[in-house]
Amino acid sequence: MKVCVVGITGLVGSELLKVLNESLLKIDVFIPAASEKSAGKKVVLRGSEYNVVTPAQACEMKPDIAIFSAGSAVSKEWAPRFAENGCYVIDNSSQWRMEKEIPLIVPEINAATIQQNDHIISNPNCSTIQMVLALSRLHENFCIRRIVVSTYQSVSGTGVKAVQQLMDERAGKAAKKEYPHPIDLNCLPHGGSFLENGYTSEEEKLVFETRKILGSEQIQVSATVVRVPVIGGHSESVNVEFERPFEMEDIVDLLKETSGIVVQDDPESNLYPMPIYAQGKDEVFVGRIRRDNSIENGLNLWIVADNLRKGAATNAVQIAEYLEEVYF
Ligand SMILES: NC(=O)c1ccc[n+]([C@@H]2O[C@H](COP(=O)([O-])OP(=O)(O)OC[C@H]3O[C@@H](n4cnc5c(N)ncnc54)[C@H](OP(=O)(O)O)[C@@H]3O)[C@@H](O)[C@H]2O)c1
Repeated sequence: MKVCVVGITGLVGSELLKVLNESLLKIDVFIPAASEKSAGKKVVLRGSEYNVVTPAQACEMKPDIAIFSAGSAVSKEWAPRFAENGCYVIDNSSQWRMEKEIPLIVPEINAATIQQNDHIISNPNCSTIQMVLALSRLHENFCIRRIVVSTYQSVSGTGVKAVQQLMDERAGKAAKKEYPHPIDLNCLPHGGSFLENGYTSEEEKLVFETRKILGSEQIQVSATVVRVPVIGGHSESVNVEFERPFEMEDIVDLLKETSGIVVQDDPESNLYPMPIYAQGKDEVFVGRIRRDNSIENGLNLWIVADNLRKGAATNAVQIAEYLEEVYF
């Protein structure tokens, strides 16, 4: 099988290399791609060295599966061309996520909805993935009416340049600004770009992607995205209102039974999820599980995951593994 990664030199691309190294996905030919400025650089996968090529060269090599992590513009231009060659494109950008006919996949929830002729498959936004994975079984059982989510997102969610800004500020060096303000010792209530309605593009992703993945246009979502000076791992405070009453022990049992979820919730021993411990892990961690007594059928959760792993690379490789199992 020929497997390509477009955006191999980026933060997600580097994590993809690690996840592919650990994965059992069959890779006979590996095709790493990035922009022209990176062409000719070397990357190592499973002990073999490969030259980085451009998307045009990668497309000519006709990969069977290509994971795109190079931003929306590259996906817009190149994903359809790869797909025309029969390649399955798994796209990490937001370019195709809300297109009706493009599947938006968190494998534990909806991999089975992928059809053989779906040659572009979208990976959801990192903050959406961790939230819907924690909520999917709860929704099946108690039916979510409304979600209020506030995120505490790490700088690695913005890419290499944002991590550099934080590191430079921390070292007291003149930093090239990826954000409009300092990020070290600060919190920015600003993820993505501002829209006319006052929300940001990252906040809208949480609304519309959640509805699409959980398969319910009725779910109301109110989101506030905040960028915090953490290098890796997104955290979320999530308040949920269900249609139906629930018992707390059923909530905990359902979370424990959800594939990919780890419950970390023991206030007496100060056990709760934190990004510093979620970094480098594939699971989504859930804690601070408590009833919201201010509304009927209300619940509060604290959800943490590594945005580069389950939020991007791991989820994409899981989709590739599913495709391999079903279609190759
Ligand atoms: N970071 C996250 O947590 C996260 C999570 C989910 C999804 N995503 C999405 O994944 C994508 C990549 O994010 P990132 O954080 O890895 O960004 P990044 O660190 O800035 O890396 C960008 C990658 O895209 C490549 N690239 C840029 N322009 C290109 C072009 N014209 N042709 C081919 N390759 C090009 C870059 O190659 P050069 O080095 O050659 O410039 C680099 O490999 C984005 O769409 C992002 O929204 C990111």
